[in-house]
Amino acid sequence: MKQMIIEGNNKLSGIIEIGGAKNSAVALIPAAILASGKTTINNVPNISDRDALIDILNVLNCNVNLQDDKLTIDTTNLKNTLIEESYSSRLRASYYFMGALLGREKYVEIYIPGGCNIGSRPIDIHIDGFKALGAEVITEGNKYILKADRLIGTDIYLRFQSVGATINLMLASVLAEGKTVIHNAAKETEIINIADLLINMGANISGAGTDEITIIGVEELHDATISVIPDRIEAGTYIILGALCGEKLTIKNVIPEHIESLTDKLKEMGSHITINTDSIEISKVDNLKPINIKTLVYPGFPTDIGQPMSVLLTQCNGISLFEETIWENRMGHVPSLNKMGANIKVNGMNAIINGPTKLKGEEVIATDLRGGAALVLAGLTAEGTTIITDVEHILRGYENIIYKLTNVGAKIELKEI
Ligand code: EPZ
Repeated sequence: MKQMIIEGNNKLSGIIEIGGAKNSAVALIPAAILASGKTTINNVPNISDRDALIDILNVLNCNVNLQDDKLTIDTTNLKNTLIEESYSSRLRASYYFMGALLGREKYVEIYIPGGCNIGSRPIDIHIDGFKALGAEVITEGNKYILKADRLIGTDIYLRFQSVGATINLMLASVLAEGKTVIHNAAKETEIINIADLLINMGANISGAGTDEITIIGVEELHDATISVIPDRIEAGTYIILGALCGEKLTIKNVIPEHIESLTDKLKEMGSHITINTDSIEISKVDNLKPINIKTLVYPGFPTDIGQPMSVLLTQCNGISLFEETIWENRMGHVPSLNKMGANIKVNGMNAIINGPTKLKGEEVIATDLRGGAALVLAGLTAEGTTIITDVEHILRGYENIIYKLTNVGAKIELKEI
């Protein structure tokens, strides 16, 4: 078990470089299964979710080579075996092996995925889509068996714009026979990144990034290379940090249009923010205006930035409303923030945040990835020492977080307990 110890209330300045997007990388890695050769993925973030996926590739007898941020996956000797629960439950994205193995092998045996405890997280939309393509889906306790003699392209209507289901159904249909159209597809930037890799492999996909994706099946996919796009959620988290305690804090390697919904809100609050081509500079100002945020699918305000943003709302001058619409359980960090001095009232998926309140260091618990990141921001803002336990959640998604923060003047360390 690890904990983070933070001495807060320091001004942070300098440059934080953003890494590759977790939620792209965790789909690009399983997608490599679809090429019967070598896939090279550059700019892979150094996070524990990456390592969990590499372990699954090893179970499947793939040849994996990681050098710095370059991951090479050779699937020539793939052995399609059961993916045990001890592997699948380490992260949500293990379910992308369903689409990828079904697409290539027409057979998958895998246990249920894991992931943050932010809601009930059903996978019915994925399963319905696999069935629409012609797969038979059998459940035995926590195990799924997906099999098909043939996968045949069809029209698939998603009842919700699910990121995971959109990606999984692209993976399952690129080698299917004929045309698949995914209607009401998710439009998150990561989906374009996955489609680009598949297209580089020889897949025929159009419309990724819109709510209608068309896939014409091909017989085989070949070697390909892709670069993971910058992580808009990591960037958003550090931009908010700049608004909390930055003194010309520069967040570099950002695609500003990917986080416009955040930067628009920061401007509305009266933040000092400068947006350049691939970087954003931000400093703390007093008297921020309270605002309302409502999380939505892309291009709306990202659910993954709601929790970090709630920390900034504790520093605004008045009452802000944080309305979560995607996950039922996004308020797990609030008791910790209140313990640190915040004044937040939760009502179901909504929170009323009364600011400004001085935050003070406390012992708190990370209940999930983004909630944990929120506590890091709170600890860096607070007077005194904050000790965060269960930080494994945070390390799943923020690469080199201690190095990146120490480098801009934060006093933060990771301790084994
Ligand atoms: C992805 O989760 C991300 N995870 C999440 O990021 C992110 O919060 C989410 O998209 C929304 O942007 C990864 O990419 C690995 P969904 P995903 O399917 O794909 C319901 C983080 O912190 N739903 O778009 O699992 C579901 O319950 C993580 O980095 C069904 O009902 O999200 C939720 O209410 C957390 N049935 C909504 O749809 C299904 O079959 C959105 O889920 C699938 C989803």
